Order: sequence, then C-alpha cells, then structure tokens
Amino acid sequence: MLCDLTLILVTLASVVLARPQSYAVWAADSGIARGQGNGLDTRGRAIVSYEHGEFQWGLRQLYELTGNQTYFHYIVEGVDNIVFDNGTVHGSYTVTDFVLDPLRTGPTFLYLYEETGKSKYKLAADIFRGQLNAHPRTAQGQFWHKLKYPNQGWLDGVYMGEIFYAQYTSRFQPDNTTAWADITSQFQLMFENTIQNATAPNNTGLLYHGYDFSHKQVWASPDRGHSPEVWDRALGWFSMALVDILEVISTTNPGHNTILDILRTLAPRIRDAADPATGAWWLVITQPGRAKNYFESSGTAMFVYALLKAVRLGYVVDNDGSIVAAARKAYAYMTENWVVSNSDGTMNWLNTVIDPQVGSLDTTGDFDYYVSQPTNLNDLKGLAAFVLASLEYERLQN
Ligand SMILES: *[C@@H]1O[C@H](CO)[C@@H](O)[C@H](O)[C@H]1NC(C)=O
Ligand SMILES: *[C@@H]1O[C@H](CO)[C@@H](O)[C@H](O)[C@H]1NC(C)=O
Ligand SMILES: *[C@@H]1O[C@H](CO)[C@@H](O)[C@H](O)[C@H]1NC(C)=O
Ligand SMILES: *[C@@H]1O[C@H](CO)[C@@H](O)[C@H](O)[C@H]1NC(C)=O
Ligand SMILES: *[C@@H]1O[C@H](CO)[C@@H](O)[C@H](O)[C@H]1NC(C)=O
Repeated sequence: MLCDLTLILVTLASVVLARPQSYAVWAADSGIARGQGNGLDTRGRAIVSYEHGEFQWGLRQLYELTGNQTYFHYIVEGVDNIVFDNGTVHGSYTVTDFVLDPLRTGPTFLYLYEETGKSKYKLAADIFRGQLNAHPRTAQGQFWHKLKYPNQGWLDGVYMGEIFYAQYTSRFQPDNTTAWADITSQFQLMFENTIQNATAPNNTGLLYHGYDFSHKQVWASPDRGHSPEVWDRALGWFSMALVDILEVISTTNPGHNTILDILRTLAPRIRDAADPATGAWWLVITQPGRAKNYFESSGTAMFVYALLKAVRLGYVVDNDGSIVAAARKAYAYMTENWVVSNSDGTMNWLNTVIDPQVGSLDTTGDFDYYVSQPTNLNDLKGLAAFVLASLEYERLQN
C-alpha cells in the first residue's frame, strides 16, 4: 500500500515536474509562460528591447524546427506590440537618440515581412535602416554605441546593429558594396581597437569590452583607449554576432573571409579562457579566481552557442575536438547549476548579471564595477542565450 502510494506520488511529481526532452523548448516555453520578450516591459508598456530580439531569434529557430505555431504567434505578438499598423516603431524608440541596441529587433521585422508580406514590417525595418545612414561614427567609421557615448565602440553594439544591417542589405540591396564594406569594417575596427595585446597583463588575446577613440573616458587606456577588462557578456555578444553574420554575408564577398579570420582567431582563445575545473567562464575573464568574481551564465551560454555553431557550419575546424568538448563541458555545468525546475513545470534560469539602467561603460568599467552588479533571476539576456545554446547542443546530439 505504502509502496503504491509512493509510486503514485513519484509518478505525479514527475508529471508535474516533467520537463520536455529539449532544454531549448523548456527554456523557451518557460519564458513564454512568464510573458517574457513580448514587446512589453514588466509594467505592460511597449518597449523596443534587444533582449526580446535575441529571444525571438531562438523562437524563430524553434518554430522552424518543431512547426509549433505558438512560437510564431508569440513573435508576431511581440513585434505588433512595438510596431503600429502604419509601420511606425514605438515603445521608447526615437531615431535621433542614435542607440544601436533597439536595432536588434530589426531581424524580427525582416523575418515577419518575409513570412507575412505585410508592409508595416518593411516600413519599420526602413526606419531602423534610416537610423544607420545618419548614425554618428568615429573618425575611423565605427558607429558610436549611442549618441550620448561619443566616439565609443562597444562589443555589444556589433551584435545589436550589424545582424540587422547585413540582413537588410542582403534582402534589399545585395549589390550595395559600400554597405557590405561598412558592415565588415564594424567588426574589424572593433576587433583591432579592443584586442588584448601580448604585453597586456593577464593576456588572453581576447577583446576588452569597448574603446573610446577620443581617449577621454576615465576607463580609456592611455595608449589605445580601450576599457580595462574583458567582460564575458560583451565578448559573448560579439562572438554570437560573428557566427550569425557569416550566415548572411556571402562567401564570395571579401568581408566573409575578414570576419571568418576574426572568428578563427577568437574561438580557440575563448575555449582556453574557460575555467579548467568547471568549464564555465568568469564574469571578468581577465581576472580568473579573484575574490568576488564568479561564473556568469549569459556569457557562458553565448560562448557555447557561438562555439558549437562555428564548428557545425565549418567556420572553425575542430580537429582535436577540443572546442566541442569545451562547449559540452560548459553546457553540462549550465544545466546542473543554473537550471532550476519549478513546481508549475517551468524552469528558472540563474546567475545572469543585470545590465544597469545606465550603460555599463558609463562607469569606471573596472573589476570592482563589474562584480558589484547584481545577478537577476530569469534575466532574458541569459535565458535567450540558453535557448540558443541548447538549440546548438541538441543539434549536436541528433
Ligand atoms: C507548442 O508550444 C507551446 C508553448 O510554448 C506549448 O504549450 C504547446 O504544448 C506546444 N504544442 C505542441 C503541439 O507541442
Ligand atoms: C502611426 O500610427 C500611430 C498610432 O495610430 C499614430 O500615433 C502615428 O501618428 C501614426 N504615424 C504616422 C506617420 O502616420
Ligand atoms: C548603400 O549603403 C550605404 C552605406 O550604408 C548607404 O549610404 C547608401 O544609401 C546605400 N545605397 C543605396 C542605393 O541604398
Ligand atoms: C600593449 O598593451 C600594453 C598594456 O596595455 C601597452 O602598454 C602597449 O602600448 C600595447 N602595445 C601595443 C602595440 O598596442
Ligand atoms: C590578473 O589575474 C589575477 C588573478 O585573477 C588577479 O588577481 C590580478 O588582479 C590580475 N591582474 C590584472 C592587472 O588584471
């Protein structure tokens, strides 16, 4: 009798807690169940948000993989919350603020235009494309991260702006060589201006969070203007941008090889920067093991996505299997430490550092700054990256 009851309870518990076979599905469904990434902020107001764009990229792939219409409808709902029927983008978006972040929702506009043919999505994309034509730049041509951060290039901005820029160009101006050269140059300038050189202390050969071409910021190094630390999420955005852009920019375009070279340089260094014991990446990659530093989940998920996708598509040759092995190890750490099953069948995602209201290089940009920022439960920047990492990991299994 007792045995039966135990059996029933165990069965019931496993029904309630049963997670889907796929972590990608589980993470996405949990975000949807919480109403995350649907074009509204936590108070229900329209918001053009890059993390919604990141999440929609995962949902689109899940829709293509499973055919489950729920994902598609959720994407439509999210975009319709920020695009009026006449194509005007609202939700705290103003062209003349010249911020790169909102443009990360542009790929979803283009996707919905392809899928539905509705002109409002094209008009909305045109507004974003128009922003780029007038966006302020450094003397070398790098887009400023924001108008209010003059002359600053941040790694994050490449993910926010360039995927959209390339997809728009590919769809509407495939022969615009100026645009392709410009897109390529955004990657190259960012790479050259932020890469750690061999004499840097704790050299990892990776990229500092950003640089100030005018060398005026408190954090700008006197020699090259770069910020002091390699921050995992900034490099995570940049690494996702590398693997995503290569799918868009034709192999016959000279920019393809330029960007490929950057990915091939960084991929093994990212692998080598993982913590040997856990496989995860430190929040501040340049100061492993220092008190208050910790393993951060959004950057780790982004690296897993970028490394696995780079190998899957043949951008990076992984002869000895060490890159995939590093991604697998990190993936196991993520699912064991940062995924928590809830009694309502959803999962929680832990340990993603927040982005403060002010931009992160609006500060000292030093070690103490990064480690002083709190982590956030179910932060969409990390949850969406985990969806993307899981999609790649599950492709590897199948
Ligand atoms: C489709 O996805 C939704 C939620 O994201 C889920 O509730 C539903 O069960 C899925 N449908 C199928 C047929 O898998
Ligand atoms: C587009 O529609 C919105 C909402 O109806 C309206 O506020 C806005 O003025 C319209 N914009 C243009 C350019 O017509
Ligand atoms: C091509 O791209 C450049 C750079 O973004 C832009 O200034 C120009 O207007 C584009 N050309 C056309 C025909 O749209
Ligand atoms: C390399 O970095 C060090 C330390 O930041 C700096 O002093 C040096 O000037 C840099 N060298 C080059 C060639 O940029
Ligand atoms: C180098 O790394 C060690 C170990 O994390 C750290 O304690 C030290 O502060 C770092 N040095 C610099 C200059 O970042």
